[in-house]
Amino acid sequence: MREIQAIQANDTAIRRAEKIMPGGVSSPVRAFRGVKGNPAFIVKGEGAHIYDIEGKTYIDYVMSFGPLILGHAHPSVTLRLVKQILKGTSYGAPTLHEIELAEHIIEAHPATDWIRFVNSGTEAVMSAIRLARGVTGRDRIVKFDGCYHGHADSLLVKAGSGLATFGIASSAGVPERVARDTSVLPLGDLDAFKQLMDERGEEIAAVIIEGIPANMGLFPQERQFMKELERITRKVGALFILDEVITGFRVGEGGASQYYELSPDLVTFGKVIGGGLPIGAYGGKKEYMEHVAPLGSVYQAGTLSGNPLAIIGGIATLETIKEEPNFYTKLQKRTGRFVGQIEEVFQKYSLPIQTKSIASLFWLVLQPNSAKNPAEIRKSAVKRYANLHFELMKEGIYAPPSAYEVWFLSIAHSDEILELTLRKLERAIENYSVREE
Ligand SMILES: Cc1ncc(COP(=O)(O)O)c(C=O)c1O
Repeated sequence: MREIQAIQANDTAIRRAEKIMPGGVSSPVRAFRGVKGNPAFIVKGEGAHIYDIEGKTYIDYVMSFGPLILGHAHPSVTLRLVKQILKGTSYGAPTLHEIELAEHIIEAHPATDWIRFVNSGTEAVMSAIRLARGVTGRDRIVKFDGCYHGHADSLLVKAGSGLATFGIASSAGVPERVARDTSVLPLGDLDAFKQLMDERGEEIAAVIIEGIPANMGLFPQERQFMKELERITRKVGALFILDEVITGFRVGEGGASQYYELSPDLVTFGKVIGGGLPIGAYGGKKEYMEHVAPLGSVYQAGTLSGNPLAIIGGIATLETIKEEPNFYTKLQKRTGRFVGQIEEVFQKYSLPIQTKSIASLFWLVLQPNSAKNPAEIRKSAVKRYANLHFELMKEGIYAPPSAYEVWFLSIAHSDEILELTLRKLERAIENYSVREE
């Protein structure tokens, strides 16, 4: 096998990768198609930094799209992983560690009685949907426009014409008959939701929403809206699924469930609960979870599910969070202050910006008016972001490679690192030319 070190430049690496992998990547956004330039090929991560094959250092605001709330290679996580790796990487048999992680999650999520571990957020959501269908004997599911729940067929669906009665596939390869069983509604529109539930409530197995919609911009919802979704969903005999793949242990110990004071029937997790290793989990009320095999008739399994490395990554992460006094408050304050400072930099250069932040995630949209939903993100803002991203990469700031993705902070982003980022941001802005449409 050729040595990875033989590759010196990111452009050589992406050309080599593109010959044998779609877009040269294992997940589309990494290909930088929404921004300019070549993706950086990473060799190392440490704290708030990543290092590429050209020897360049970046301050990382992607943090693997969310899992790394402690930063890269946090010593307490790494040490426990090393200890585990010496004992083997997978057994295909239960371990005490799974109980430990499940207990930790359940303690923070009082509405969740039981948990099942899987390997990704997609798998968690897919399994929760199957469970809801198995429990209710109904097929239809309801999702919200702009929410991403992974790439299972029934969720790669967008609103059809008319009042969102039938969805249409948003990816080739998703059968239209599958897409038709998903209804897609506008975010925050309680009237549209009520109307659908009045008309089709008896067909609906589950209503699913992101804890805090953060996959097409950042759109926290009103508490009242979320609570009404939960109440009405239950009233029609369907299950309310809160997708906490991003928000779980990110917006606080109790995630979005606690933030909105919800008590969902099923919850899905991923990202932070694996501390940067592949994981997902779904859980919920015992009366529903006991329908999962081997107890019940809803089948779901996995060769690597509950993998000891992923579970230990999660335990070490959640324990470290717990040991640090006021972990979430500190991180939230730091993020809020940083976002305010970013706004000031943009204002200094008279550039349009709107920001949103919640806990340790934030989003910048480079337009004068705030976007109330994904449809209000302007093309000009997306174009400006691509230009800025290019300059940020040159300055050594690794920002999300798409205008629609949120930025993540970790506890490793110290005040000094944030200040340095602001100086680099100024230089990037000075260097970039804004091309208005
Ligand atoms: C809210 C939400 N649900 C589900 C998923 C899918 O998770 P995974 O990428 O681990 O399959 C994601 C991924 O970003 C997500 O943000």
